[in-house]
Amino acid sequence: MALYSDKVMDHFLQPRNLGVIENADGIGEVGNAKCGDIMKMYLKIDDDTITDVKFETFGCASAIASSSMATELIKGQRVEDALKLTNKAVAEALDGLPAYKMHCSVLAEEAIRAALEDYKKKKSEKE
Ligand code: FES
Repeated sequence: MALYSDKVMDHFLQPRNLGVIENADGIGEVGNAKCGDIMKMYLKIDDDTITDVKFETFGCASAIASSSMATELIKGQRVEDALKLTNKAVAEALDGLPAYKMHCSVLAEEAIRAALEDYKKKKSEKE
């Protein structure tokens, strides 16, 4: 069996939503101390709905594929729904990850959550 599913390869080789959002409403950056990989998520949010999302990932193929898939999953979602995104859902949407690569999908969950928390914090400061 191939190490990675076709979907992982597809999202790794042609990542969706790669890049930066200037003046993002929420930014989340997380890293994994063990492997040293870093993921950064940018969110544009209008009326508590995610209208745009971009990412930068300095990491392995699974981390890039996980970020790409995670951005696709939350685009257009309400903030409260996006907060429920789990790394398992990201890995399942990619048709699975090797067990020792599951932590790469955790990074995607954490980066999105951090960006959403940043948005919520900024919003409450404005109120
Ligand atoms: Fe660290 Fe993939 S090996 S995120």
